[in-house]
Amino acid sequence: MKITQLLGYQVFDSRGKPTVAATLVLSDGTFHTARVPSGASTGRHEAKEIRDHETGLAESLFAGNSVYRACANINELIAPKLIGKTTDLRAIDQIIRDIDGTANFKNVGANAALAISIVVAKSQAHAEGKSLSRFFQPMGALKLPMPMVNILSGGAHAKATMDIQDVLVIPEGASSFREAISWSSAIREVAAIDGEKMGALTHLTADEGGLAIGFTTIDAACEFLVLCIGKIGLEPGKDVSLAIDFAATQFYRDGEYRLRNAGKNYTADDFISHVTKLTKNLPILSVEDPFAEDDWDSWQKFMADVPSRLQVIGDDLYTTNIDRLRKGIETKASNAILIKPNQNGLLTQTLAALECARESDFKTIVSARSGETEDSWLSDLAVGWGAEQIKVGSTHGSERTSKWNRLLELEATEDCLFSRPFSQS
Ligand code: PGA
Ligand code: ZN
Repeated sequence: MKITQLLGYQVFDSRGKPTVAATLVLSDGTFHTARVPSGASTGRHEAKEIRDHETGLAESLFAGNSVYRACANINELIAPKLIGKTTDLRAIDQIIRDIDGTANFKNVGANAALAISIVVAKSQAHAEGKSLSRFFQPMGALKLPMPMVNILSGGAHAKATMDIQDVLVIPEGASSFREAISWSSAIREVAAIDGEKMGALTHLTADEGGLAIGFTTIDAACEFLVLCIGKIGLEPGKDVSLAIDFAATQFYRDGEYRLRNAGKNYTADDFISHVTKLTKNLPILSVEDPFAEDDWDSWQKFMADVPSRLQVIGDDLYTTNIDRLRKGIETKASNAILIKPNQNGLLTQTLAALECARESDFKTIVSARSGETEDSWLSDLAVGWGAEQIKVGSTHGSERTSKWNRLLELEATEDCLFSRPFSQS
């Protein structure tokens, strides 16, 4: 099937900020659309999304955040090269790379590049008569990922009500996806009721649908969630464990980790001890970005003495960039990677990073961004790529539930296995 039309245009993300959408029309007359997300606590080494405060196309309505240039790049630079071609994701990703000519897509914009890559994948799946998950996994079993669900938000997603960015739950003992997400949702509802009793405005949600309950220390936030898990009759550390996304680059200044709410500045070595103590004293199964994006030393020191079951995820550390990942594998900086397609720019390259991680026995967690849309392609990628975990925020907000709902749909309608990536203690 051939591409007859490709259109880039501006739409909104869940923060009300502009983002890029692309619609592709195929020769059978069908329309296919993709919308891309955008981060708030972005890593320095991410592929470059283009916003108009740097292009001269900015208008005052969107405070410079419009994406008209990125859309124009789709319409003027890329579409003319794709009209009449068949939908072949690998070939078209290569055309985008050639048109851009840089490693970080600074010419066409990673937001434009990813919108095209996804819409081409959706169109090719349609042309082959498959769902997007099946397109990426034509033969083997479809595997639903273990969810990692945001309950408490702080940092850049909630005006720093906590120093760290998220405290999440991993329903590691659940035996199906629907059980896993039901447990997580129940924990969030208990946390909302108890948070309200503590005086928090829990009807208001943070950027990823989590609760912005203020906690002075990381321990206090975790202890609160341990109680919530117990209140729904589940066992912390067995049925449901905790995960923390520190997003530590956000509070790293001049070689120190500065926790404003806790009123403490830590040297790198002291912060390593602090994180180690937290993971020993609390049922924490996973830590993400516990150290800053270029503080490789601290990552290595921490990993040298890491508890055996602890998952240590690089997000800003790797920015889904295969060269940074290879450095992390060589230097043993972590044992897991967050996979965010828009940090990378193209689906084929993102998949290459995931496969490289898997070959080195790194755990892989496919992740949404804090600025999302209702598009649910990420869930199909997680299933099709066989990523064992997924992180898309909380259970509130349609930009979040669209991803959970797609996974529930796959569970109900396809013959799927459920990933249980953590050995049960
Ligand atoms: P971001 O946050 O999308 O704002 O970068 C998500 C994360 O840090 O995992
Ligand atoms: Zn993160």
